[in-house]
Amino acid sequence: DIVSNREMLIEARKNKYAVPAFNIHNLETMKGVIEAAYELRSPLMIATTPGTVKYAGLEFLVAMARAAAKKYDIPIALHLDHCTDVELLKQCIQAGYKSVMIDASIKSYEENISITREVVKYSHRYEVSVEAELGLVGGQEDDRDIDEKDTTLTDPHIALDFIQRTNVDSLAVAIGTAHGVYKSEPKLDFERLSKINSMVSIPLVLHGASGVPHESVIKAVENGISKVNIATELKIPFAEAIKEYFKENPSANDPRYYLTPAKDMVKKIAMEKIRVCGSANRY
Ligand code: 13P
Ligand code: ZN
Ligand code: NA
Repeated sequence: DIVSNREMLIEARKNKYAVPAFNIHNLETMKGVIEAAYELRSPLMIATTPGTVKYAGLEFLVAMARAAAKKYDIPIALHLDHCTDVELLKQCIQAGYKSVMIDASIKSYEENISITREVVKYSHRYEVSVEAELGLVGGQEDDRDIDEKDTTLTDPHIALDFIQRTNVDSLAVAIGTAHGVYKSEPKLDFERLSKINSMVSIPLVLHGASGVPHESVIKAVENGISKVNIATELKIPFAEAIKEYFKENPSANDPRYYLTPAKDMVKKIAMEKIRVCGSANRY
């Protein structure tokens, strides 16, 4: 069955690789990332934002992920990404999610702590692992767009305090990445990351990995990142493949034909990302 991300992230942290978390939106994108992970024997996190949960339907996402976990002998986690709504988070847990992110990073520090604490208490009763965010990662994700000037990087000492007071399982850190595409190449604060990693003992998460050069992702993993989130770099090629198909076949109308190259494109990119994360051949 689908699992929490606890064991897979602890393994990753111990062995200095990262588990990729791919944001999916439908059957085709889910199949693309699953086929990639299965072929490369990588642990996999299938990430769904609240927007995707509303779009695809909670029961459908859980059923598809469970079917995948049954069919393929690699660890598969279905993860609720960037949830700001505690009620929705509880609904997802009741429907079968074993991995959630509560994102109260936009709130004050004390509010972030109290919301995260409450979610951790609730989730652990169901053996669900919880990711929280401290500092604020900018850019466009789901229905939120945060300007760079409003972002803040994660402070290592505050991170330690936050983890001790919330008992959270993993932490999303702000070290210079942003959601979506970059206008210019992002500068990652590896020193900050390495300081955070030396002070805390839980897995750290890199958001906004699309558009980050491979060398920088590898360096981030070397410096303590155990989970890498990828959304935009799958969305764009998926859409491009469909556009390309219709350009060549303007009268096409069979989804089995026009969506297959798009799914294969997602698979190809996901395989690249798995290699960059170093998570191939771990299972
Ligand atoms: P990108 O869209 O930049 O890959 O960000 C993904 C992400 O952080 C999902 O939570
Ligand atoms: Zn994110
Ligand atoms: Na990005």
